[in-house]
Amino acid sequence: MKAFIRHMISSNIRVNPSAFLTTFLLILNLACCQRGFDPIDRYYINCGSSTDLTVGNITYVADRSSSRFLTTPQDILADSNLNSITPSEDSRLFRTARIFTGPTRYTFSIQQGGRHWIRLHFYPFTYQNYDMNSASFSVFSQQTTLLSEFSPRNASVKEYSVNVTSGDLVITFSPSTNSLAYINALEVVSVPDDLIADDASLFNPPGPFNGLVTQALETVARVNMGGPLVSLVNDTLGRTWVPDSNFLLQQNLATNESNVPAVHYPQGGASSNTAPQTVYGTCTKMNSGNDPNSNFNVTWGFNVDPGFQYLIRLHFCDIVSTAANQLVFNVYIGSSLVAPDFEPSSRTSGHLATPYFMDFVTPLMDQNNLSISIGPSPRSSYPDAFLNGLEIMKMNNSRDSLAGSSVLPRFPASKKNLGMIVGLSVGVPVALILIVLLFFIHKRRKQRLLAHSKTWVPIYVNGGASHTQGSKYSTGTNVSVGSNMSYRIPFVALQEATNNFDENLAIGIGGFGKVYKGVLHDGTVVAVKRGNPKSQQGLAEFRTEIEMLSQFRHRHLVSLIGYCDEKNEMILVYEYMENGTLKGHLYGSDNPCLGWKERLEICIGAARGLHYLHTGDSKPVIHRDVKSANILLDENLMAKVADFGLSKTGPEVDQTHVSTAVKGSFGYLDPEYFRRQQLTEKSDVYSFGVVLFEVLCARPVIDPSLPREMVNLAEWAMRWQKKGQLDQITDPKLSGKIKPDSLRKFGETAEKCLADFGVDRPSMGDVLWNLEYALQLQEAVVHNDPEENSTNVIGQLSPQVAEFNNVDHTSNSVAGFEESSVDDLSGVSMSRVFSQLVKSEGR
Ligand SMILES: *[C@@H]1O[C@H](CO)[C@@H](O)[C@H](O)[C@H]1NC(C)=O
Ligand SMILES: *[C@@H]1O[C@H](CO)[C@@H](O)[C@H](O)[C@H]1NC(C)=O
Ligand SMILES: *[C@@H]1O[C@H](CO)[C@@H](O)[C@H](O)[C@H]1NC(C)=O
Ligand SMILES: *[C@@H]1O[C@H](CO)[C@@H](O)[C@H](O)[C@H]1NC(C)=O
Ligand SMILES: *[C@@H]1O[C@H](CO)[C@@H](O)[C@H](O)[C@H]1NC(C)=O
Ligand SMILES: *[C@@H]1O[C@H](CO)[C@@H](O)[C@H](O)[C@H]1NC(C)=O
Ligand SMILES: *[C@@H]1O[C@H](CO)[C@@H](O)[C@H](O)[C@H]1NC(C)=O
Ligand SMILES: *[C@@H]1O[C@H](CO)[C@@H](O)[C@H](O)[C@H]1NC(C)=O
Repeated sequence: MKAFIRHMISSNIRVNPSAFLTTFLLILNLACCQRGFDPIDRYYINCGSSTDLTVGNITYVADRSSSRFLTTPQDILADSNLNSITPSEDSRLFRTARIFTGPTRYTFSIQQGGRHWIRLHFYPFTYQNYDMNSASFSVFSQQTTLLSEFSPRNASVKEYSVNVTSGDLVITFSPSTNSLAYINALEVVSVPDDLIADDASLFNPPGPFNGLVTQALETVARVNMGGPLVSLVNDTLGRTWVPDSNFLLQQNLATNESNVPAVHYPQGGASSNTAPQTVYGTCTKMNSGNDPNSNFNVTWGFNVDPGFQYLIRLHFCDIVSTAANQLVFNVYIGSSLVAPDFEPSSRTSGHLATPYFMDFVTPLMDQNNLSISIGPSPRSSYPDAFLNGLEIMKMNNSRDSLAGSSVLPRFPASKKNLGMIVGLSVGVPVALILIVLLFFIHKRRKQRLLAHSKTWVPIYVNGGASHTQGSKYSTGTNVSVGSNMSYRIPFVALQEATNNFDENLAIGIGGFGKVYKGVLHDGTVVAVKRGNPKSQQGLAEFRTEIEMLSQFRHRHLVSLIGYCDEKNEMILVYEYMENGTLKGHLYGSDNPCLGWKERLEICIGAARGLHYLHTGDSKPVIHRDVKSANILLDENLMAKVADFGLSKTGPEVDQTHVSTAVKGSFGYLDPEYFRRQQLTEKSDVYSFGVVLFEVLCARPVIDPSLPREMVNLAEWAMRWQKKGQLDQITDPKLSGKIKPDSLRKFGETAEKCLADFGVDRPSMGDVLWNLEYALQLQEAVVHNDPEENSTNVIGQLSPQVAEFNNVDHTSNSVAGFEESSVDDLSGVSMSRVFSQLVKSEGR
């Protein structure tokens, strides 16, 4: 076992600087090399350098002056002045780097879809104040996490291959909190289509493995058995093959053989792109020492990360036998016999010295070592076995990650994101998409400047002395949060309140982080929301939430009791809401069912909170994320609106909208906001309309498991409302308990909220008043004809409503509201397009 551990090399391909030296000397001496494959897409970048660098016949282009692939607000070009890199001065790719202090994207335009290599070269050194040895960062390819919280310790090259299906490949670098990211060289290069084909086998249990073509792969090991290092200049695809001696568990059991000139590639099957001749022409074999009774395995050990599946490619080429069908042996992965009685020449039509390979996919690994063995089979006439090459590739997990679970930083919507949005729109007529896109592009062009100025200037919350490390890297402004310092609560007090963030006290989890129940020193029960420090987005939301909540106090808004920003923490402390979210009382939990009157009262409370936000202060505030999960209920089921992280201050007096990147939750998003990226209070009204239908129907707003026409609640409920048959889809638990008039009023109100155009939607004040009315219709004995003109009813409403109506200067008259036309959805409805676009997504 000791030997195993001793020989375990890290699971990464670590390129020893001296190996690079060899490589470069080789290049100096032999200026030529053969490359059988001509990649369509080829980007080789020498990051942070002012001079191009040629390795073999590959030129890594300097990006000091031009960084046309790069979207980053701030980056630092680092040049180690040669002396600081020892002893590998010749590893010239490692001499320079680009340092990032904030999330950054490289965007490569891809001419031909399919698998592409992504190679990342890292070498840490110190440049001015930036010590790359302390860097920690995550890297993403499109949505796939390639590296999570990675800190390169030595010169290393990380190699991935991903199938790019869209027109652009976006690689995102995201520094961990208060850290930095860097890159020394970057390659994005086409891979031949047939290199990774969909014909791998599972062996435990045995069967075919489908879907290899969509997997992102990370090269964990690429080994030339019984041969020397094959560097990138000797490989048609620029790969590096390392010798196997460091992986052999018992070197004395193995010997090697070499006959490179004998290798003849077959027609079809393995080619020089599969592995070069120098790999197939050497092998490691059993060291039987002419003893016909030898019975042992030759075993190689590799470090792997548990929790992933691995693709194992075994390369064979029989340069050992003197005649066909001489050799029969067993091949094992771990303790599984994956190729019993394997007879290499039988796989190559009886030809010797002919390359052949097999692909296997492991089960999910549950330990951190993986071994490959070859050994005699009972059918062997003479005990011998060999292996010529081996590749081990890590496969992405179901969370589309090859590493931890880092969160892809969110960038503002831009033209580059259109590909993704279009990707969601399967089934929508192309023309309609184009309309949406044109709107989008038009708006973006106008707003790009604005968006840029708002984006990715890291904002470090003033957290006292604990930020010294971070502020060194922060080129952004330090923004002090909340002028009212009395809100700040010491971290120790919160540790105490939550029993040091005891998981048993966790009451929820959201995009921002976890929520714990806690009790402060004075006995106040609180909800403690602890932000995930890795989320840069979270920081902005944290700040917004404090700013908003410290400005507003209202019975129907959740109160902020305090916050904590010590030690990079982002913690918000709220009044504790005994009954959780409205959503939790509608479906998916075993909370007791709410009656119709209770539901109406909750809607009214939430509407009051929103109405206050929209009108109650000098500057109107748009919530932007109105949904049932953000409406909380106290011990008396009184509703309070929560989660102001996305809030935006509303239009100034002379403006009618706020331009901003689309945020919010799918299923609740205002189609007009999506279309025009203009935010008004009416966007909240739309979302609230969706909440109303959710309250009535007690089902999720997006439920992909339902038949197509039912997936989107807003769309589906509107269809029934228009037919006047809303009663068909109300929560069965309310069946027979809603008075028809109350339901009618409620349905009309929701319908008006969902009007396609903001101008046609009622104000929150109108909604509130209509809901009050629906409650009256439910409770009181109404003497009038149900078809009465609504204005006649005012006299019968409770004093509370009448009073409200008097003080509410912003709301239109009831009659005005009743007249607004919303039924003219002639032709194509944008909301329908939108609901198609978002159908498969959820937040
Ligand atoms: C490398 O050399 C080969 C043949 O000499 C040539 O076909 C190929 O285009 C070259 N590659 C690059 C990137 O210049
Ligand atoms: C980094 O490389 C140096 C020299 O090659 C070696 O001594 C050291 O152990 C390496 N460190 C790690 C963490 O691999
Ligand atoms: C890439 O993935 C698509 C499916 O998403 C598949 O049709 C295609 O064959 C794949 N290409 C390669 C080279 O694996
Ligand atoms: C092959 O084996 C011999 C001794 O058996 C050893 O000296 C040599 O280094 C080996 N070559 C490789 C490439 O492993
Ligand atoms: C690499 O390629 C060069 C030139 O083609 C050749 O001379 C050299 O022997 C090759 N090295 C290996 C390890 O095959
Ligand atoms: C070779 O390894 C396999 C798997 O660990 C094991 O089942 C088998 O008994 C071994 N054979 C010998 C001869 O040790
Ligand atoms: C692999 O690791 C597991 C524990 O993680 C250990 O029990 C086992 O012995 C190791 N196998 C080898 C071959 O070292
Ligand atoms: C890897 O990610 C793809 C999507 O990119 C997904 O379809 C596939 O299921 C993932 N692989 C596994 C093993 O979950």
